[in-house]
Amino acid sequence: MRTSLPVVDADLLALLRTDLIAARFTVPGIAEVLGPMAGAALAREHPLPAERVTDSSTDPCAALIRLFTLGAPVDVREVQAALPNVGVDGITTLGLVRHEGDAVVATCDLRPYATERDTWWVASDLDELATGEPLRPDHVLGIGGASTTLASWTPRCPVDRALDVGTGSGVQALHLSRDASQVVVSDLSERALAYAAFNAALNGVTWDIRRGSMLEPVAGETFDLIVSNPPFVITPRDGSVPLFEYRDGGAAGDAVVADLVAGLGAHLVPGGVAQLLGNWEIARDADWRDRVGAWVADSGLDAWVVQREVQDPAQYAETWARDGGHHAGTAQFRAMYASWLDDFASRDVEGVGFGIITLHKPSTDREPFVDLMDVRGPVAAVMGPTIAAGLAARERLATLSDEDLLDVAWAAAADVTVEHHLVPGSSQPRAVSVVQGGGLRLRVPLDSYAAGYVGVADGSITPRQALVAVAAILEEDAAEVTARVVPMLRYLIANGFLID
Ligand SMILES: C[S@@+](CC[C@H](N)C(=O)[O-])C[C@H]1O[C@@H](n2cnc3c(N)ncnc32)[C@H](O)[C@@H]1O
Repeated sequence: MRTSLPVVDADLLALLRTDLIAARFTVPGIAEVLGPMAGAALAREHPLPAERVTDSSTDPCAALIRLFTLGAPVDVREVQAALPNVGVDGITTLGLVRHEGDAVVATCDLRPYATERDTWWVASDLDELATGEPLRPDHVLGIGGASTTLASWTPRCPVDRALDVGTGSGVQALHLSRDASQVVVSDLSERALAYAAFNAALNGVTWDIRRGSMLEPVAGETFDLIVSNPPFVITPRDGSVPLFEYRDGGAAGDAVVADLVAGLGAHLVPGGVAQLLGNWEIARDADWRDRVGAWVADSGLDAWVVQREVQDPAQYAETWARDGGHHAGTAQFRAMYASWLDDFASRDVEGVGFGIITLHKPSTDREPFVDLMDVRGPVAAVMGPTIAAGLAARERLATLSDEDLLDVAWAAAADVTVEHHLVPGSSQPRAVSVVQGGGLRLRVPLDSYAAGYVGVADGSITPRQALVAVAAILEEDAAEVTARVVPMLRYLIANGFLID
């Protein structure tokens, strides 16, 4: 089913906003109408409970859920009652619905999106749940898991210029609008940019919208903050797998992400930050750190990469065949699956890593730092502050000598606890770990020297003072003890266990 594109009309959009707010077509409003079971089922892509709840409700929000989220035809009078100011004529002019007898049917997905500070609405193409059909090659993605992951990891502070590469319907750009004086968005897809323009107007923000591939539309320009949820999906190039613009950047293997990493340095001001999601191939017997480490080393930028997940080729094929609307059991699914396995085998790839790459342009003349971490477990829901603090700590450590580090009176951060592991009957811990309650939620085993310092680190004593005392008690060489503990102290400071 060919869907039309939404139309920007400032007056009608102002009326639409008024109506959406009045109908409580907001994140809390929808949660209230659906209730926890139907809401959770819908999040798992099972619409039936939501259909049952909204079919039996006269709430205007229920009518809008049926129309814009579930893709159902809704009686014209019901829609008119739910949107009395903009009216059915208005949303028809805006290109959001078409008429089917006495009913209207949505031609795009429209849903609220909220942060602690904002409520926005985002229009995008209807997904396969609503259309019942596989996605079109030029499908414009709404808000997905990857979108919210990137948004939650981006460090936020007031900046002058920000860029969203591969903006799609503009989810990241909405976040950028909060803190940036100027927001530039780019995408290769004309269709995506039509949605981006609509969403900017609907939410009352202004973006400089550019069409073109990756960084081409911003040649010669620099930014304080660049974000990108790029089309990073590794896709066989033999034609057997449909190419979706929203996830396929047009290159073999993981080259799209490697090329983007290589290009970002030229577009950052000194002190600027770029953050992107990525997939990387892990060949047999290889370490992902070598591959991604080589990308970032060549970029000349500080880099902090957190690998969050690794899938084997079979898991990867299943994930992305399903994402495109194909289901196990069909001949097409089987052919795609085989093609993905062949493609990875041709490069001896045994795993695909997924993670968040944060790059920073040093503002002084120093060696860039590179930190590649594997953190698979749950992390804080909002990671931006952790990234901002971690970048600042790593930048400081890049020029802090071991000697100077030993003379700072560090304090354990408020979310840090120490775990002592005791053998039953013994009062002496066999092992000690330091645990983070927030951020990356790291748990780090400590040797007795590092544990000795962390146990007293309250901002009043330096590592040198504490470790010299410990060395004297144990009759060990103080210089040797402090030198042995420094790498662990650096790790704890970089990751926010120790602050000053
Ligand atoms: C995964 S979507 C991200 C959408 C949105 N930024 C988000 O976070 O949800 C990737 C976007 O990149 C765009 N894209 C694909 N190939 C591109 C290219 N060569 N240059 C720029 N954008 C591209 C797609 O049209 C799509 O909008």
